[in-house]
Amino acid sequence: MPRTIDWRDGAITLVDQTALPELRTVTIGTVEELVEAIRGLVVRGAPALGVAGALGVALAARTLDGAALAAAAERIAAARPTAVNLRWAVERALAAGPDGALAEALAIRDADIASCHAIGRRGADLLAELCEPRPLRIHTHCNAGALACVEWGTALGVVRDLHADGRLELVVADETRPLLQGSRITAVELAELGVPHRMVVDGAAASIVARGLVDAVVVGADRIAANGDVANKIGTYPLALAAARAGIPFLVAAPESTVDPATADGTQIEIEERAGDEVLALGGRRTAPAGADAWNPAFDVTPADLVTAIVTEERTWRP
Ligand code: MRU
Repeated sequence: MPRTIDWRDGAITLVDQTALPELRTVTIGTVEELVEAIRGLVVRGAPALGVAGALGVALAARTLDGAALAAAAERIAAARPTAVNLRWAVERALAAGPDGALAEALAIRDADIASCHAIGRRGADLLAELCEPRPLRIHTHCNAGALACVEWGTALGVVRDLHADGRLELVVADETRPLLQGSRITAVELAELGVPHRMVVDGAAASIVARGLVDAVVVGADRIAANGDVANKIGTYPLALAAARAGIPFLVAAPESTVDPATADGTQIEIEERAGDEVLALGGRRTAPAGADAWNPAFDVTPADLVTAIVTEERTWRP
């Protein structure tokens, strides 16, 4: 698997996440192409969106400066509203100026790789403390793996380290409706890692936890508010409720760039609403009758009191 996102010959290269499990790469040469790719989830996952945003500013800075560059940066930052990494990285690249944007974007790329490795180690060590001393069954949601970052992953970074330590029995992965990031993307990564895994429909997740079939839940995050409330893929909150009820750890694995001190709590997080068609159809075929309407929030907010710990590259935060 090539890097999820990179910079090659003056353009952004992406693994097309809409094509997986088929491996296809795309090259992005303009801001308009990038905005389309972000909206269409060709690139997705909070850390990857951050790197994409910063590289997008570097692309724009080749031909624009001043107000025109700021306007292009705003179009990129506004392409998806929930993952704070996108706006954070765009602003950093913009602040570096037209001559410094590329170097800043590449620094964000490299820092993300290092962060993921630190998060994986810290999360695996914490689970070793919190859980019984035997190989663990980990439940995860959506995709917070290498394909959501530059490489390695956050929640799946924890899984990688547990696996390397000989402390992993099984990963249970939710398919993640409506766009199937679990069964199309997480399953690809787990297979490549040789990690035993089973996919479940999202509706089975809480029951799997309640039946004692997993030892801990580990997920990523799109935005973490100052009080520790966590926005992540829709379906995360019910998993956190189930974990609290069952008395098992609910871990959030995310870089510091996902923590947004300007967002006081989860009520202030904008939740992206996506097109109803994603719910009313499956595999490109309409499943709901004509005239059926849908509600399609892409994320939910897990309150801080349901979170056992947030593991970043710098700290273990128990909100
Ligand atoms: O809509 P997506 O696929 O971009 O949502 C992704 C998630 O919810 C991830 O869990 C989150 O971005 C963390 S990725 C390390």
